[in-house]
Amino acid sequence: MSKENIKVKVFRFNPAKDKEPRFQTYEVPRLSDEEAMTKATIMNELHSQTVLDVLDHIFQNIDPTLSYYCSCRRGECGACGAVVNGETVRSCVTLAKDEMTIEPLQHLQVVKDLVVKEYSARELFSLARTNTLNLLKKAYKFT
Ligand code: FES
Repeated sequence: MSKENIKVKVFRFNPAKDKEPRFQTYEVPRLSDEEAMTKATIMNELHSQTVLDVLDHIFQNIDPTLSYYCSCRRGECGACGAVVNGETVRSCVTLAKDEMTIEPLQHLQVVKDLVVKEYSARELFSLARTNTLNLLKKAYKFT
């Protein structure tokens, strides 16, 4: 019996090698209801295939060069943050669907693929202040 696949486009960019970012398309098998029921663990009680499951499948079975990050796998730490079809989500608690586009978090430096630079609270404050000043300069046309 053939399984339904999930088609997913993933942002790929290695600043050390690539001139431009690109998207790579993958097809990942959708979990059957039975597989989804048995996948739930003490760490993740979701009985469905998540975006993080899709990334895990790509990394483990199709393309081990894909970089992404996660930690708690239960929606608490935010380490798996990504933009899916234009919406910022925690990929470990977001259900996978067909025709997904997965990108790194916006406005942060990409380390590789979906991994972005980690900022300290001080750096984030400085970044926000700089971005706000730049927006004000643009809006009021002063330099
Ligand atoms: S891995 Fe911690 S919120 Fe997803």
